[in-house]
Amino acid sequence: MYRPFMLVMFLLEWLVILASVNVIRSANAAVSDYAWANIRRVNQEGPYLGIVVPNSFEMSPLLQSPSFVPHDKLPYIDVAGRRFRIGKVENKRVIVVMTGLSMLNAGVSTELLLSLFKIKGILHIGIAENANPQLQIGDVTIPQYWAHTGLWNWQRYGDGPEDKLSLESNGDYTRSVGYLELSDFNSNVKDQNLLNNVWYQPEEVFPVDGYPEIRQHAFWIPVNELYFSLAEKLEGIKLEGCLNSTCLPRRPLVTRVERGISANVFVDNAAYREFVYTKFNATAIDMESAAIALVCLQQRTPFLTIRALSDLAGGGSSTSNEAAIFTPLAAHNAVVVLLKFISLLNP
Ligand SMILES: *[C@@H]1O[C@H](CO)[C@@H](O)[C@H](O)[C@H]1NC(C)=O
Ligand SMILES: *[C@@H]1O[C@H](CO)[C@@H](O)[C@H](O)[C@H]1NC(C)=O
Repeated sequence: MYRPFMLVMFLLEWLVILASVNVIRSANAAVSDYAWANIRRVNQEGPYLGIVVPNSFEMSPLLQSPSFVPHDKLPYIDVAGRRFRIGKVENKRVIVVMTGLSMLNAGVSTELLLSLFKIKGILHIGIAENANPQLQIGDVTIPQYWAHTGLWNWQRYGDGPEDKLSLESNGDYTRSVGYLELSDFNSNVKDQNLLNNVWYQPEEVFPVDGYPEIRQHAFWIPVNELYFSLAEKLEGIKLEGCLNSTCLPRRPLVTRVERGISANVFVDNAAYREFVYTKFNATAIDMESAAIALVCLQQRTPFLTIRALSDLAGGGSSTSNEAAIFTPLAAHNAVVVLLKFISLLNP
Protein backbone atom coordinates (compact mmCIF):
# COMPACT_ATOMS: atom_id res chain seq x y z
CA MET A 1 0.00 0.00 0.00
CA TYR A 2 1.10 3.57 -0.64
CA ARG A 3 2.28 5.30 2.46
CA PRO A 4 0.18 8.46 2.00
CA PHE A 5 -2.95 6.30 1.72
CA MET A 6 -2.14 4.50 4.98
CA LEU A 7 -1.65 7.80 6.70
CA VAL A 8 -5.06 8.98 5.53
CA MET A 9 -6.65 5.74 6.76
CA PHE A 10 -4.95 6.13 10.13
CA LEU A 11 -6.21 9.70 10.49
CA LEU A 12 -9.72 8.73 9.44
CA GLU A 13 -9.78 5.94 12.03
CA TRP A 14 -8.80 8.41 14.71
CA LEU A 15 -11.46 10.84 13.62
CA VAL A 16 -14.09 8.12 13.90
CA ILE A 17 -12.88 7.20 17.39
CA LEU A 18 -12.83 10.83 18.51
CA ALA A 19 -16.30 11.45 17.09
CA SER A 20 -17.78 8.45 18.87
CA VAL A 21 -16.25 9.51 22.20
CA ASN A 22 -17.91 12.88 21.70
CA VAL A 23 -21.26 11.31 20.89
CA ILE A 24 -21.09 9.20 24.05
CA ARG A 25 -20.15 12.20 26.14
CA SER A 26 -22.96 14.40 24.87
CA ALA A 27 -25.47 11.56 25.14
CA ASN A 28 -24.80 11.34 28.89
CA ALA A 29 -26.97 14.39 29.53
CA ALA A 30 -29.45 16.47 27.58
CA VAL A 31 -27.66 19.66 28.65
CA SER A 32 -23.93 19.89 27.96
CA ASP A 33 -21.50 21.28 30.53
CA TYR A 34 -20.92 24.18 28.18
CA ALA A 35 -24.63 25.03 28.05
CA TRP A 36 -24.95 24.69 31.85
CA ALA A 37 -22.15 27.18 32.39
CA ASN A 38 -23.88 29.68 30.12
CA ILE A 39 -27.28 29.05 31.69
CA ARG A 40 -25.81 29.84 35.12
CA ARG A 41 -24.34 33.08 33.80
CA VAL A 42 -27.64 34.08 32.23
CA ASN A 43 -29.62 33.25 35.36
CA GLN A 44 -27.39 35.54 37.44
CA GLU A 45 -28.88 38.41 35.44
CA GLY A 46 -32.46 37.16 35.81
CA PRO A 47 -35.34 36.86 36.38
CA TYR A 48 -36.62 37.06 32.81
CA LEU A 49 -39.90 37.24 31.02
CA GLY A 50 -40.26 34.12 28.88
CA ILE A 51 -41.63 34.75 25.39
CA VAL A 52 -42.91 31.59 23.76
CA VAL A 53 -43.70 31.60 20.03
CA PRO A 54 -44.87 28.65 17.91
CA ASN A 55 -43.29 29.19 14.48
CA SER A 56 -40.60 31.27 12.83
CA PHE A 57 -43.06 33.41 10.83
CA GLU A 58 -44.59 34.47 14.17
CA MET A 59 -41.17 35.04 15.80
CA SER A 60 -39.49 37.00 12.96
CA PRO A 61 -41.48 40.23 13.44
CA LEU A 62 -40.36 40.20 17.10
CA LEU A 63 -36.68 39.53 16.36
CA GLN A 64 -36.71 42.16 13.61
CA SER A 65 -38.34 44.78 15.80
CA PRO A 66 -35.96 47.56 16.97
CA SER A 67 -37.40 46.95 20.44
CA PHE A 68 -35.63 43.55 20.61
CA VAL A 69 -31.98 43.88 21.64
CA PRO A 70 -29.99 40.62 21.83
CA HIS A 71 -27.63 40.09 24.79
CA ASP A 72 -24.21 41.42 23.71
CA LYS A 73 -22.20 38.44 25.05
CA LEU A 74 -24.67 35.57 25.09
CA PRO A 75 -27.35 36.15 22.44
CA TYR A 76 -28.56 32.56 22.62
CA ILE A 77 -28.12 29.13 24.21
CA ASP A 78 -29.06 25.97 22.34
CA VAL A 79 -30.48 23.05 24.32
CA ALA A 80 -32.34 19.96 23.14
CA GLY A 81 -33.01 21.24 19.65
CA ARG A 82 -34.34 24.56 20.94
CA ARG A 83 -32.70 27.98 20.75
CA PHE A 84 -33.19 30.17 23.82
CA ARG A 85 -32.58 33.77 22.71
CA ILE A 86 -31.45 36.09 25.47
CA GLY A 87 -32.04 39.80 25.24
CA LYS A 88 -34.25 42.74 26.08
CA VAL A 89 -37.62 43.85 24.76
CA GLU A 90 -38.86 47.30 25.69
CA ASN A 91 -35.80 47.38 27.95
CA LYS A 92 -36.96 44.35 29.98
CA ARG A 93 -34.96 41.13 30.18
CA VAL A 94 -36.48 38.36 28.08
CA ILE A 95 -35.74 34.86 26.85
CA VAL A 96 -37.46 34.02 23.57
CA VAL A 97 -38.03 30.43 22.49
CA MET A 98 -39.64 29.04 19.34
CA THR A 99 -41.52 25.82 20.06
CA GLY A 100 -42.49 24.35 16.71
CA LEU A 101 -46.03 23.35 15.80
CA SER A 102 -48.62 21.97 18.21
CA MET A 103 -49.14 20.77 21.75
CA LEU A 104 -46.21 18.44 22.42
CA ASN A 105 -43.62 20.89 21.10
CA ALA A 106 -45.20 23.79 22.96
CA GLY A 107 -45.28 21.83 26.24
CA VAL A 108 -41.72 20.53 25.94
CA SER A 109 -40.26 23.95 25.08
CA THR A 110 -42.12 25.72 27.87
CA GLU A 111 -41.11 23.11 30.43
CA LEU A 112 -37.46 23.41 29.34
CA LEU A 113 -37.63 27.20 29.53
CA LEU A 114 -39.03 27.08 33.07
CA SER A 115 -36.69 24.31 34.24
CA LEU A 116 -33.47 25.83 32.91
CA PHE A 117 -33.98 29.55 33.38
CA LYS A 118 -35.09 31.96 36.06
CA ILE A 119 -38.45 33.04 34.63
CA LYS A 120 -41.00 35.30 36.33
CA GLY A 121 -43.80 35.01 33.77
CA ILE A 122 -44.61 33.68 30.32
CA LEU A 123 -46.06 35.64 27.43
CA HIS A 124 -47.23 33.61 24.49
CA ILE A 125 -47.96 35.12 21.08
CA GLY A 126 -49.02 33.88 17.68
CA ILE A 127 -51.84 33.68 15.21
CA ALA A 128 -55.16 31.90 15.76
CA GLU A 129 -58.25 30.85 13.93
CA ASN A 130 -61.40 32.75 14.76
CA ALA A 131 -64.67 31.09 15.80
CA ASN A 132 -66.36 34.29 16.99
CA PRO A 133 -68.66 35.90 14.38
CA GLN A 134 -68.35 39.29 16.12
CA LEU A 135 -64.63 39.53 15.37
CA GLN A 136 -62.71 39.76 12.13
CA ILE A 137 -59.37 38.68 10.70
CA GLY A 138 -56.53 40.85 11.99
CA ASP A 139 -58.12 41.41 15.41
CA VAL A 140 -55.91 40.49 18.35
CA THR A 141 -57.52 38.47 21.13
CA ILE A 142 -56.46 37.91 24.73
CA PRO A 143 -58.56 35.04 26.10
CA GLN A 144 -59.11 34.69 29.85
CA TYR A 145 -59.33 30.87 29.81
CA TRP A 146 -57.74 28.17 27.73
CA ALA A 147 -58.66 24.51 27.37
CA HIS A 148 -57.07 21.59 25.57
CA THR A 149 -59.90 20.16 23.48
CA GLY A 150 -58.00 17.30 21.92
CA LEU A 151 -58.08 14.81 24.81
CA TRP A 152 -61.10 12.59 24.07
CA ASN A 153 -62.94 9.54 25.25
CA TRP A 154 -64.55 8.15 22.09
CA GLN A 155 -67.77 6.37 23.01
CA ARG A 156 -68.70 2.99 21.53
CA TYR A 157 -71.56 2.87 19.04
CA GLY A 158 -74.88 2.34 20.83
CA ASP A 159 -73.92 4.10 24.09
CA GLY A 160 -75.30 7.59 24.78
CA PRO A 161 -75.03 10.47 27.25
CA GLU A 162 -76.64 8.39 30.04
CA ASP A 163 -74.05 5.62 29.76
CA LYS A 164 -70.85 5.67 31.77
CA LEU A 165 -67.70 6.08 29.68
CA SER A 166 -65.18 3.28 29.79
CA LEU A 167 -62.83 3.74 32.77
CA GLU A 168 -65.02 6.57 34.08
CA SER A 169 -65.67 4.81 37.42
CA ASN A 170 -62.05 4.95 38.55
CA GLY A 171 -61.71 8.64 37.68
CA ASP A 172 -59.73 8.34 34.45
CA TYR A 173 -62.50 9.96 32.38
CA THR A 174 -65.48 12.19 33.00
CA ARG A 175 -68.72 13.33 31.37
CA SER A 176 -68.55 16.71 33.11
CA VAL A 177 -67.14 18.73 30.19
CA GLY A 178 -69.43 17.49 27.44
CA TYR A 179 -69.26 15.85 24.06
CA LEU A 180 -69.48 16.24 20.32
CA GLU A 181 -72.12 14.02 18.71
CA LEU A 182 -70.75 13.28 15.30
CA SER A 183 -74.11 12.20 13.85
CA ASP A 184 -75.44 15.72 14.48
CA PHE A 185 -73.39 16.64 11.45
CA ASN A 186 -74.74 14.18 8.91
CA SER A 187 -75.84 15.96 5.80
CA ASN A 188 -78.90 13.80 5.19
CA VAL A 189 -79.40 10.49 7.02
CA LYS A 190 -79.07 10.86 10.82
CA ASP A 191 -78.55 7.78 13.02
CA GLN A 192 -76.37 6.19 10.38
CA ASN A 193 -73.14 7.46 11.82
CA LEU A 194 -71.06 4.82 13.60
CA LEU A 195 -68.59 7.38 14.95
CA ASN A 196 -71.00 8.17 17.84
CA ASN A 197 -69.74 10.66 20.49
CA VAL A 198 -66.39 12.03 21.57
CA TRP A 199 -66.27 13.36 25.15
CA TYR A 200 -63.82 16.16 25.95
CA GLN A 201 -61.53 15.27 28.85
CA PRO A 202 -59.63 17.43 31.32
CA GLU A 203 -55.89 16.98 31.39
CA GLU A 204 -54.16 15.09 34.21
CA VAL A 205 -51.86 17.58 35.95
CA PHE A 206 -49.13 17.20 38.56
CA PRO A 207 -48.47 20.63 40.10
CA VAL A 208 -45.07 21.38 41.66
CA ASP A 209 -46.73 21.93 45.03
CA GLY A 210 -48.77 18.73 44.82
CA TYR A 211 -47.66 15.23 45.81
CA PRO A 212 -45.61 13.59 43.00
CA GLU A 213 -47.60 11.13 40.89
CA ILE A 214 -50.91 12.09 42.52
CA ARG A 215 -52.93 13.45 39.66
CA GLN A 216 -55.29 16.38 39.62
CA HIS A 217 -57.46 17.35 36.66
CA ALA A 218 -57.77 20.65 34.78
CA PHE A 219 -59.84 21.71 31.79
CA TRP A 220 -60.30 25.51 31.72
CA ILE A 221 -57.02 27.15 32.73
CA PRO A 222 -57.24 30.85 33.61
CA VAL A 223 -54.46 33.17 32.50
CA ASN A 224 -52.76 35.29 35.15
CA GLU A 225 -55.23 37.71 36.75
CA LEU A 226 -52.85 40.67 36.93
CA TYR A 227 -51.68 40.23 33.34
CA PHE A 228 -55.30 39.94 32.19
CA SER A 229 -56.41 43.10 33.95
CA LEU A 230 -53.34 44.98 32.68
CA ALA A 231 -54.28 43.83 29.16
CA GLU A 232 -57.37 46.00 29.31
CA LYS A 233 -55.03 48.92 28.58
CA LEU A 234 -54.21 47.33 25.22
CA GLU A 235 -57.73 47.79 23.92
CA GLY A 236 -57.53 50.84 21.67
CA ILE A 237 -54.08 50.25 20.15
CA LYS A 238 -53.99 51.19 16.47
CA LEU A 239 -53.27 48.12 14.35
CA GLU A 240 -52.32 47.47 10.75
CA GLY A 241 -55.39 46.69 8.63
CA CYS A 242 -53.93 46.46 5.14
CA LEU A 243 -51.66 43.91 3.53
CA ASN A 244 -50.08 45.39 0.40
CA SER A 245 -53.16 46.92 -1.21
CA THR A 246 -55.75 44.56 0.34
CA CYS A 247 -57.49 46.20 3.31
CA LEU A 248 -59.77 44.60 5.90
CA PRO A 249 -63.40 45.84 6.18
CA ARG A 250 -62.56 47.71 9.38
CA ARG A 251 -59.40 48.51 11.27
CA PRO A 252 -58.41 45.55 13.49
CA LEU A 253 -58.91 45.89 17.24
CA VAL A 254 -57.43 44.37 20.38
CA THR A 255 -59.93 42.71 22.68
CA ARG A 256 -59.96 40.52 25.73
CA VAL A 257 -62.29 37.56 25.22
CA GLU A 258 -63.55 34.82 27.47
CA ARG A 259 -62.14 31.65 25.96
CA GLY A 260 -59.66 30.04 23.61
CA ILE A 261 -59.15 26.38 22.79
CA SER A 262 -56.17 24.38 21.56
CA ALA A 263 -55.67 20.92 20.08
CA ASN A 264 -53.42 19.15 17.59
CA VAL A 265 -55.90 20.07 14.89
CA PHE A 266 -55.90 22.76 12.21
CA VAL A 267 -59.60 23.59 11.91
CA ASP A 268 -60.88 24.44 8.43
CA ASN A 269 -64.44 23.33 9.02
CA ALA A 270 -67.47 25.60 9.45
CA ALA A 271 -69.57 23.08 11.39
CA TYR A 272 -66.87 22.44 13.99
CA ARG A 273 -66.15 26.17 14.25
CA GLU A 274 -69.79 26.88 15.05
CA PHE A 275 -69.93 23.96 17.50
CA VAL A 276 -66.98 25.19 19.59
CA TYR A 277 -68.33 28.73 19.62
CA THR A 278 -71.79 27.57 20.77
CA LYS A 279 -70.56 24.94 23.21
CA PHE A 280 -67.46 26.54 24.67
CA ASN A 281 -67.88 30.23 23.77
CA ALA A 282 -64.46 29.85 22.15
CA THR A 283 -63.03 32.74 20.14
CA ALA A 284 -59.41 31.82 19.40
CA ILE A 285 -58.61 28.34 18.14
CA ASP A 286 -54.95 27.38 18.07
CA MET A 287 -52.56 24.47 18.50
CA GLU A 288 -50.29 25.55 21.41
CA SER A 289 -51.76 27.94 24.00
CA ALA A 290 -53.45 25.34 26.21
CA ALA A 291 -50.25 23.29 26.35
CA ILE A 292 -48.34 26.32 27.62
CA ALA A 293 -51.19 27.12 30.02
CA LEU A 294 -51.07 23.57 31.39
CA VAL A 295 -47.31 23.73 31.97
CA CYS A 296 -47.57 27.16 33.62
CA LEU A 297 -50.43 25.96 35.81
CA GLN A 298 -48.32 23.08 37.11
CA GLN A 299 -45.21 25.25 37.55
CA ARG A 300 -47.30 28.02 39.17
CA THR A 301 -45.94 30.57 36.68
CA PRO A 302 -47.96 33.61 35.52
CA PHE A 303 -49.03 33.30 31.91
CA LEU A 304 -50.86 35.23 29.17
CA THR A 305 -51.60 34.53 25.50
CA ILE A 306 -51.91 37.18 22.79
CA ARG A 307 -53.27 35.66 19.59
CA ALA A 308 -54.08 37.54 16.40
CA LEU A 309 -56.84 36.11 14.22
CA SER A 310 -55.61 34.97 10.82
CA ASP A 311 -58.63 33.17 9.41
CA LEU A 312 -62.20 32.02 10.05
CA ALA A 313 -61.48 28.34 10.76
CA GLY A 314 -63.44 27.25 7.71
CA GLY A 315 -66.40 29.56 8.38
CA GLY A 316 -65.60 32.25 5.82
CA SER A 317 -67.27 32.80 2.49
CA SER A 318 -64.09 32.43 0.46
CA THR A 319 -63.33 29.06 -1.10
CA SER A 320 -60.00 28.65 0.68
CA ASN A 321 -58.69 29.28 4.19
CA GLU A 322 -57.80 32.96 4.66
CA ALA A 323 -54.66 32.14 6.64
CA ALA A 324 -52.76 31.77 3.36
CA ILE A 325 -53.21 35.52 2.79
CA PHE A 326 -53.51 37.11 6.23
CA THR A 327 -50.88 35.26 8.26
CA PRO A 328 -48.18 37.97 7.88
CA LEU A 329 -50.61 40.72 8.95
CA ALA A 330 -51.83 38.71 11.97
CA ALA A 331 -48.28 37.75 13.02
CA HIS A 332 -47.26 41.42 12.82
CA ASN A 333 -50.28 42.60 14.85
CA ALA A 334 -49.61 40.05 17.60
CA VAL A 335 -46.08 41.39 18.02
CA VAL A 336 -47.27 45.02 18.12
CA VAL A 337 -49.61 44.12 20.99
CA LEU A 338 -46.93 42.09 22.80
CA LEU A 339 -44.48 45.02 22.70
CA LYS A 340 -47.12 47.35 24.10
CA PHE A 341 -47.96 44.86 26.85
CA ILE A 342 -44.32 44.49 27.88
CA SER A 343 -43.92 48.26 27.97
CA LEU A 344 -46.80 48.37 30.52
CA LEU A 345 -45.13 45.90 32.90
CA ASN A 346 -43.19 47.17 35.89
CA PRO A 347 -39.40 46.97 35.39
C1 LIG B 1 -68.75 34.64 25.77
O1 LIG B 1 -67.56 35.38 25.65
C2 LIG B 1 -67.74 36.77 25.48
C3 LIG B 1 -66.37 37.39 25.30
O2 LIG B 1 -65.55 36.60 24.54
C4 LIG B 1 -68.46 37.36 26.70
O3 LIG B 1 -68.70 38.74 26.48
C5 LIG B 1 -69.77 36.62 26.90
O4 LIG B 1 -70.37 37.06 28.11
C6 LIG B 1 -69.55 35.12 26.96
N1 LIG B 1 -70.84 34.43 26.98
C7 LIG B 1 -71.15 33.51 27.88
C8 LIG B 1 -72.51 32.92 27.73
O5 LIG B 1 -70.41 33.18 28.77
C1 LIG C 1 -47.58 41.26 -0.45
O1 LIG C 1 -46.32 41.71 -0.88
C2 LIG C 1 -45.25 40.82 -0.60
C3 LIG C 1 -43.93 41.50 -0.94
O2 LIG C 1 -44.05 42.34 -2.06
C4 LIG C 1 -45.48 39.53 -1.37
O3 LIG C 1 -44.45 38.61 -1.11
C5 LIG C 1 -46.82 38.93 -0.93
O4 LIG C 1 -47.11 37.78 -1.69
C6 LIG C 1 -47.93 39.94 -1.10
N1 LIG C 1 -49.14 39.40 -0.49
C7 LIG C 1 -50.35 39.50 -1.04
C8 LIG C 1 -51.47 38.88 -0.29
O5 LIG C 1 -50.54 40.09 -2.09
